[in-house]
Amino acid sequence: PPRIIRGLDELRAITRAWKRAGETIGVVPTMGALHDGHLSLARAARQNCDRVIVTIFVNPKQFNNPEDLENYPRTEDDDARKLAPIGVDLIWVPDGEQMYPSDFATNVSVSGITDVMEGAHRPGHFDGVATVVAKLFLQTAADQAFFGEKDFQQLMIVTRMAKDLDIDIEVIGCPTVREDTGLAMSSRNLLLSDRAMMKAATLHEVMTDTVAALAEGAEFSTLQDAAKARLRAADFTEIEYFEIRARDDFAPLTTPTRPARLFAAAWMAGVRLIDNIDVPVK
Ligand code: PAJ
Repeated sequence: PPRIIRGLDELRAITRAWKRAGETIGVVPTMGALHDGHLSLARAARQNCDRVIVTIFVNPKQFNNPEDLENYPRTEDDDARKLAPIGVDLIWVPDGEQMYPSDFATNVSVSGITDVMEGAHRPGHFDGVATVVAKLFLQTAADQAFFGEKDFQQLMIVTRMAKDLDIDIEVIGCPTVREDTGLAMSSRNLLLSDRAMMKAATLHEVMTDTVAALAEGAEFSTLQDAAKARLRAADFTEIEYFEIRARDDFAPLTTPTRPARLFAAAWMAGVRLIDNIDVPVK
């Protein structure tokens, strides 16, 4: 398995040597409990960069719910084993005290695109994400960073943050990896029973059906009502949002007159699931 580095001085010594040798660095930030979605990002980094760093840090600042932080799966040894065949150079696993010493006082906050969807339903979440990702970018001194479209809003926010702060890194978005059922892979799926996993696949099914019906001319408001009813029938308990928004500024759309995605968040068996898919322009 790749080397696990836990000290920032050690990490910096390694990345400085890489840079002196003219090598490019790709970083894949994660919170661990790695699945094929994460591994696809590591493979993309492997293809694009001379050196690959996967980071594993369950970032307390982005959890708006203490129970969610407590229950978040932690599987470090398995994670390291999964990364070995990909040829990742090192795993950066900072400890909490190092990331956020008691006198830590800085917050990175992106405005506008953080107001809706995940930002509206998870107060403070994106400040936590933007802050930790800024730190990870600076710690690793990477040239490219790989993020999943699974968390599309996050992808746009970290892209904005890096650009606004002049961090010299290219953020690259990669497609969502799914189970055979269509369910988007997620570390939180580990918290679902087999039966709940099966039912959870209804989310993606309903989303693709909605996009297909929209293309055939159906009204989005009608489709939205039908989608929510189908999700409730599949035992989703709460549907936080199910909406079409523009790709770039997340303006709400009922007719996709410009590049857009269908975004959803819903609860299955006590687990909050999110997904998003492309909506072809009319
Ligand atoms: P985490 O949920 O572990 O996800 C790490 C990366 O994997 C993110 O870029 C996410 O979009 C991507 N990912 C997750 N599921 C995926 C799937 N099914 N297909 C493709 N990519 C997928 O997102 C975070 O961690 C954190 O917010 C983090 C960015 C690490 C900051 O703490």
